[in-house]
Amino acid sequence: MRFTVRLVVAIWISAMVVIAGFTFLQIQQERERLVNDLERRAVLLAEGLKEAIEPAVARGSTSRVEAILKKFGEPRRGLAVYDRFADLMVATRDLAPTLPPALPEVTDAVTKGVVSRGFRSIGDRWTYVYATPLTRDERRLGALAVVLDATHLTTAERDLWRDDAIRFVVLALALSLIVLFVVRGSVSRPMAEISAWTKGLRTGRPVPPPAVPDAGLFGPLAREVSMLARSLQKAQAAAEEEAALRLAGETVWTEERLKQFVNLRLEGRPLVVVSNREPVSHYWKAGKVHAQTPASGLVTAMDPVMRACGGVWVAHASGDADRETADERGRVGVPEDEPRYTLRRVWLSKEEEQGYYYGFANEGLWPLCHIVHTRPTFRPQDFAHYVEVNRKFAVTVLDEIREAEAPLILIQDYHFALLPALVKAERPDARVAIFWHIPWPNFEAFGICPWQRELLLGMLGADLIGFHTQYHCNNFLETVDRALETRIDWEHLAIARSERVTYVKPFPISVAPEFVEDPPPISREDLLRELGVGAEFLGVGVERVDYTKGLPERFRALRWFFERYPEYRERVVFVQLGAPSRSTIKRYQELQLEVEETIREVNAELATRTWRPILYLNRHHEHRDIWPFYRHADFCMVTALHDGMNLVAKEFVSVRDDGDGVLVLSRFTGASYELRDALLVNPYDLAETAEAIRAAVAMEPGERRARMARMRQTVREHNIYRWAGLLLSDLSRIPAETTGAPAS
Ligand code: G6P
Repeated sequence: MRFTVRLVVAIWISAMVVIAGFTFLQIQQERERLVNDLERRAVLLAEGLKEAIEPAVARGSTSRVEAILKKFGEPRRGLAVYDRFADLMVATRDLAPTLPPALPEVTDAVTKGVVSRGFRSIGDRWTYVYATPLTRDERRLGALAVVLDATHLTTAERDLWRDDAIRFVVLALALSLIVLFVVRGSVSRPMAEISAWTKGLRTGRPVPPPAVPDAGLFGPLAREVSMLARSLQKAQAAAEEEAALRLAGETVWTEERLKQFVNLRLEGRPLVVVSNREPVSHYWKAGKVHAQTPASGLVTAMDPVMRACGGVWVAHASGDADRETADERGRVGVPEDEPRYTLRRVWLSKEEEQGYYYGFANEGLWPLCHIVHTRPTFRPQDFAHYVEVNRKFAVTVLDEIREAEAPLILIQDYHFALLPALVKAERPDARVAIFWHIPWPNFEAFGICPWQRELLLGMLGADLIGFHTQYHCNNFLETVDRALETRIDWEHLAIARSERVTYVKPFPISVAPEFVEDPPPISREDLLRELGVGAEFLGVGVERVDYTKGLPERFRALRWFFERYPEYRERVVFVQLGAPSRSTIKRYQELQLEVEETIREVNAELATRTWRPILYLNRHHEHRDIWPFYRHADFCMVTALHDGMNLVAKEFVSVRDDGDGVLVLSRFTGASYELRDALLVNPYDLAETAEAIRAAVAMEPGERRARMARMRQTVREHNIYRWAGLLLSDLSRIPAETTGAPAS
């Protein structure tokens, strides 16, 4: 309250000073205007009368002078004529009795022969006296005095002061009310909320942190306090979760546990992650920079790990505003508002990106490893770029670990098969792992790659190679066995070449327990209303538009379902979220057309006046936008024709905290090995997939819940923190010169 009083008093004083200043100036101007007006009137009258009066005075005709004065005199306008000794000759009737014996203006006019003017009190009135000399043939005859009533000058002045005083009071009252209102709404209430929250925390109550108050008013302080609130609440929740898990004797990995594990096990050894895709890209949109999380399973998985462990993530800078948002070394803190790790961006030329990323990685290795009957294209110039870009990343990684001892390097995916050997050659003390996020085919399929030796030798530079499944590990070991001179230890799943040993092991990747930290408050009704859909059952698919995802097959299976079970027409709507991907590659352009065409065909065949079976939302969606679809769908379809793991399946399960929802899942995904309670399908088999859709919509709630509960248990236990913990644990235990199995 004292603060408010001080504020109000300060406002009153400032308003008073400003208004008084303005009033003073206003009075000055008004007075000048009124005096000018008096002067003008006096001059007009005096100079006009002079001509008539002078001859009469010269003649000594008092009666003539009297007649003239009588004619022009008025109660508020007195006239007086004086002789050459400044003695009064004649004056108008009202003026005569009040005139003092001598008027200084008259004396001046008579003695000096000049016009003289001034204000003075005559009788009980405030007047303006204007005296002008009377002459005849250069002879001084006397003076004419015009005496004008000037009381209105003081009245005007007083009125101005009074009006402005009223203005001041009204303004001050209005300002005080506004101040009270604003202070209460923007300062007192938020402060009270923050202090209630702090008090709550202090007494151990789980109080939700207050919303961010007016950042414009409190500036960075408000942001920091709110961030602190959130961090504390998260820390409190994590500690409670940990305690609960400990009490229950459970060994579930959490973000907190991974943090502690990294602190203890790595003992300050730095962690560097390398991937092609960056966790956040910046783009220009309508003159402003926007951050975007790319649609990538790899990013979904690695970002929570990096938030828990900290370290540096080296990745290709793919956004057109990436330079503007990074420092001169290409470094930027992630997340932006509360950095937990560093993103180090690497810029590639158009040619490098074309050859390494679009060419060799995505037209060569991607179709080579995914058995979906798209022929790989191998161009020597693409491979040359692939080699060059792997070298470029090696230089950046070496720069990041220059000062570090025995750092841990986690290389991600098929874009960097050569990188492990390049790093290890310079820094044998570094522990290097490469995790292959896509399938590894059998040796015959892989053997068609003209550079299979180079790729395998590059990968064997790593101490540890991870795949999602044992099956992919076996394929890799067999490929190495056939292609290179090595010794394979099948018992320990290790490959020995000269003195070096590389371990090969499955680490099924997963998702964080929270798909988004603060899900949007959108109900199923809101979602359906926004989509303009009135269906009883909602199905969803969430993918990059990629030919490995089985999109046309999915839509044909939906058609089959509606044909086979017409009673579900107008009752089921399927929404496909499709993020455009690698769209400069011809095969992806063809796929985009095929997807659109298939949806058009199915909709054209089945749609009614009020219903369209498939809705296609073909654009990038952030996690917060995807969340309501996962959360409110009756079933989710993952019909990949071949997939290393497929995190969409696990994301769907992790979001379903209502314990409901059915997952239709391709048996050709890594996820199908873990999520045995999904309805497993062969996506090439349209009839089987259609039956699974029917089973999903017709499933009894009891069975739905039982299946979802088991899948949630699996995803909860086998989460991304466990994946990272096990991988880092194995990697950190590998001795500097690898000659035997890591101690278990
Ligand atoms: C797969 C790959 C990732 C890749 C992602 C998105 O999940 O394993 O390495 O990031 O697809 O593809 P993109 O080419 O857009 O990065």
